[in-house]
This record gives sequence, C-alpha cells and structure tokens, in this order.
Amino acid sequence: MSDSRINMNNVEDVSNSLNSKTLKVCVVGIGRIGLPTALSFAKSGLETIGVDINENLVQNINNGKFPLKDEPGYDKIFDEVIKNKKFSATTDIENAVPKSDVILLSLPTPMDENNVPDYSALRNVAMKLSEILSPNSLVIVESTIEPGFIEDDMISLISTSGRLKINENFFIGVCPENANPGEILHDFTNLPRLVGGINENITKIIKSIYNFVFLVELVEMPNCKTANAVKLTTNVFRDINIAFISELSLMFEKLGIDTNVVLEAAKKKYNFQVHYPGSGVGGPCLPINSYQFLNTAKRTGSNLSIIESGRKINEHMPEHVIKLTLDAFEECNKSIQGSTILILGISYKPNVKDIQLTPAEIIIKKLQELGAHIRIYDPYFKTNDVFGIKSEENLDDVFTNVNATIIVTGHDEFKKYEISKFSQTIDKILIDTRGIIEPTSAKDANLVFRGLGRGQ
Ligand SMILES: NC(=O)c1ccc[n+]([C@@H]2O[C@H](COP(=O)([O-])OP(=O)(O)OC[C@H]3O[C@@H](n4cnc5c(N)ncnc54)[C@H](O)[C@@H]3O)[C@@H](O)[C@H]2O)c1
Repeated sequence: MSDSRINMNNVEDVSNSLNSKTLKVCVVGIGRIGLPTALSFAKSGLETIGVDINENLVQNINNGKFPLKDEPGYDKIFDEVIKNKKFSATTDIENAVPKSDVILLSLPTPMDENNVPDYSALRNVAMKLSEILSPNSLVIVESTIEPGFIEDDMISLISTSGRLKINENFFIGVCPENANPGEILHDFTNLPRLVGGINENITKIIKSIYNFVFLVELVEMPNCKTANAVKLTTNVFRDINIAFISELSLMFEKLGIDTNVVLEAAKKKYNFQVHYPGSGVGGPCLPINSYQFLNTAKRTGSNLSIIESGRKINEHMPEHVIKLTLDAFEECNKSIQGSTILILGISYKPNVKDIQLTPAEIIIKKLQELGAHIRIYDPYFKTNDVFGIKSEENLDDVFTNVNATIIVTGHDEFKKYEISKFSQTIDKILIDTRGIIEPTSAKDANLVFRGLGRGQ
C-alpha cells in the first residue's frame, strides 16, 4: 500500500498527488491499447505498472523489448519510461493493485462463436478487485462495453466480498478507448475522449487525471452508460455505413457504375460522410460493437433492425469476393479447383498488423473449399504461419507461379505496385476488393479484372 493513501473521491487530494506526481497508476491488460495507455501515463511522470496474464509479453516488456512495432512514436516513449523506471510490467495483480490509487482496465471484450459479447475478462478481474482493491481507490474502465454494464454488473462484482461499497470507499468511471490501431499516438494526442463517472465529482476527477496525461478535449458525460453509448454509436455508425455502401456497390456493379466515381463526387456535398465498400468488416471493434448493441437491444426488448441488416451485408461481402473470383476464372475457361491464388493482404484494415476477425480468413477458407491452393503475402505478416499457410517473405517468383491475385487489404504498399506486376500471373486474373486498381489500367494491361463495386 502507499504510505498515505489518496482519497480518490477528494478533488484536492487527487490534484496534489498529480502535481507531486505521487499518484500511482495500474493498467490491467497491456495489449494493443492498454500498453500505449500505460506508457502515456508513465511518460507524464506518474509511476505506472502494467498487469497482464500473458507471461511472454510481461517478460519481453521488462527485458526492454517493445511489442507494438506498428505503433509509430511509442517505441521511443517505451525506451524512455523503461529507462527512467516509471513503467514496468507484472503478472502479479495481487501485488500491483493494492499499491495503486487508480486502476485502469483495458481488458479484451471479444464475442463468442455465436456473436455473444464475452465480458469474462472484465468479470474475472472485477471479482479479483473485490478482494484486493485498497479502500478509496478509483477504477476506470477503458474497455468497450455495453451501456449499463458498469451500473448493472461491474459495481456489484467489485462489491462481492463486502469490503467495498460504491461511493463510500470505492469509485468507478469510464473513459472509453477510441484510438485506431496503427495511429494510437496520433489519436491519443488529438481525439477528444469521453469521461463518465459514478457521480459528478468522480467525472471531474477522472477528467483532471486524463488532462494531466493527454492534452485533448475531455467531454464530460452525465454518467457511465451514456459515455459507453456514445462510444458504441460512433463505431456502429461506421459499420452500418460501410454496409450501406457495400450493398449499393453490388447494385452499381450490375448497373455498370463505378462506386469510386460515385463516392468521389458524393464527397463534395458538405453533409456526406464517405465510407468505402470492401471485402468485409473485421477487427476488434466494429463487428463486435454492433453485436454489443444488438445484445443490449435483446436485454432491453428493443429492436435494432438496421444494425442487424448491416451485419448481414458486411458478413456477406467475403462471399461476393468468391463470386467475383469464380466469374473471372470462368471468363478464362479455367477451373478454380487446383489453381493457385495469391492473397495480397490479410490484415482486417490497411497498414496494421492485425488479423482479428479479418475477412481474409473467410475468403481463404472458402477458396480452399473450392480446391484452390493459397499463397499469402502481407508486408505485416512475413514468413508467419497464418491460417495454416506459411506467408511469403517477398514477392520474388510469386506472381509468375500463381493463376490469380486477390487484393484483400488496401495496404499502402500495394498501391505502389506497377500494374505490370499483376499481368505476370499465369491467367492474368486480378480481383481488387479495395478500389486500388483503376479498371481502365487493368484493361490496358490485358488483365482479367474484377473490381468490387467497380461496374464499367
Ligand atoms: N484495438 C483496438 O483497435 C481498440 C480500439 C478501441 C477500443 N478497444 C477496446 O479496448 C479493449 C482492449 O482491447 P485491445 O485491442 O487492447 O485488446 P488486446 O487483446 O490487444 O489486449 C488485452 C490484453 O489483456 C490481457 N488480459 C486478458 N485477460 C486478462 C486478465 N484477466 N488479467 C490481465 N490481463 C488480461 C491480454 O493478455 C492482452 O494482453 C477492448 O475492450 C477493445 O474493444 C480496442
């Protein structure tokens, strides 16, 4: 325990502890988002400890190995705070939490195989906190959760042991993560954050702590559930709009209309927000967030039919990629069975190393079911074993040995390729699911081209 504990419900106490940099911070879950969060707190001068169940991760961190190579800027911060001993990692939650004044939870909130949100990491840690949290501490949940989860679940779980009573000797609030993988430093230094506490005082206190660390606008919410509702609304807005454009793009293909041309012109209207069609929506946020809202709808007897339809459309898009591929093979009078297909890009979005819920996995599986052999090249996954396939280290000799190429992820690297690269393939088939290749240049290069949404 700290020598003299800070009362986290006391504005003056918290303010003094920030000014003297004596406030002790613990971040539970130091993955993609939690680690940069912990590093930001440590960089501000606050002693920060990261807790994780992943022993390898903890060991690497303590050995000075930065695990997030695709997060520009954090490598330097990592070196600095490891060197000046403001940050360290541990697997020992029982030792780290009681010593800390603020406990941030950046735990995973995935979903199960039936698309039901899985809050088991948060629930397990909440049960643990009920035994080990020091009195007058503040718990801040950064994970993405459904509105009502704090009020209906977390508080009673943390109260289980009977040692702790909300608003008496423990306090809770939320500050939902909103950074994009690959751009976390940029987002943490630019994007406004939402802050919601169990009472008005706690909201202000959380705001003062985050203000100390992040020089961004902190938007005060009336309570935790509203903050979590805003977080989900912004992401689900994107999921639905991508579905809208993807569905339109299927019709535009039939009409001979190029979706890219439509979007470029539509963007000129001041109140149009552009979203792009593609091979599907993956990642740790959008699909899950839609299912989180759908779960809330179920819980509250509400109807969210637009979200439901959006999910159906986005989950259909990999199937459409297969249709385009079969179509191109048919044009060549070739069978997909026994062919070799190069998948360019497996990340769920451009320029990040992340394959969580990526549509690439579904596309690869379906192509294999049709008898195709798959080769994978992704600049972020070189010579890795992914989906049971050893990915290529480079593209030397690959194009000339495959029948077709499918661009699944719009990595910047692929945008730099000369079109002639694609005509080296045996059947000159190119499927572009990300609007990278201009149909006219594909035609000029004599490619058998299918562009998702690119009716011509
Ligand atoms: N990655 C994103 O793009 C993103 C963006 C915004 C919000 N979020 C949200 O942030 C939260 C964290 O996501 P993430 O992407 O950082 O996840 P992650 O999987 O990268 O990291 C979570 C970490 O928690 C650890 N962990 C799991 N159970 C634990 C336990 N019981 N005790 C201690 N550690 C445990 C894991 O080992 C892992 O290192 C989620 O709610 C997610 O929805 C993620």
